[in-house]
Amino acid sequence: MTLAPAILRSSFELVVERRPDLTIRFYEILFERYRALAPMFRTDRTAQAKMLAGAVSSVLDHLEDAPWLESTLGQMGAKRLEYGVTNPMYEQVGDALLATIAEVAAEAGTAPVAHQWTLAIGAIASMMQAGAALALAQPAQPSMAATSEA
Ligand code: HEM
Repeated sequence: MTLAPAILRSSFELVVERRPDLTIRFYEILFERYRALAPMFRTDRTAQAKMLAGAVSSVLDHLEDAPWLESTLGQMGAKRLEYGVTNPMYEQVGDALLATIAEVAAEAGTAPVAHQWTLAIGAIASMMQAGAALALAQPAQPSMAATSEA
């Protein structure tokens, strides 16, 4: 089954309507389940939650725009390398995001809705990880190259 943008958008609209502070709840669930991640997040929780909500809705606005997704998510993945994010952490964040959506959607979190979010989060994580891998594989800075030639 492929991504169904209409299901993703309508279910996101529903969960945000039911719980405008959805991403605050996400961080609660994330840190309940994966306490070790908490110290990585230093920004004020409310500001962080707003940025996350903005990021998810931009992604939903661009589901049909593969170049935008690849470039934006790739850069986000590269930035997360600097934060010390490793690949297994994507599964933890994805698990907490799915749990948050399921909790808030309640009876509306049907199997197709859950399946769509599983697919979407997997695709987002892969693009972020690809961006991180690309950043890691980039050639050394010119100053370092000059040093090694000397
Ligand atoms: C679904 C994928 C993700 C989305 C949409 C997302 C979104 C965001 C946004 C919008 C920000 C704030 C702006 C920025 O620094 O870019 C942020 C920061 C951050 N993200 Fe993510 N993120 C995702 C995955 C992850 C994962 C898997 C981790 C691993 C723990 C992570 C760790 C962080 C950290 C440590 C920060 C900085 C927090 C701070 O400065 O306090 N993110 N994220």
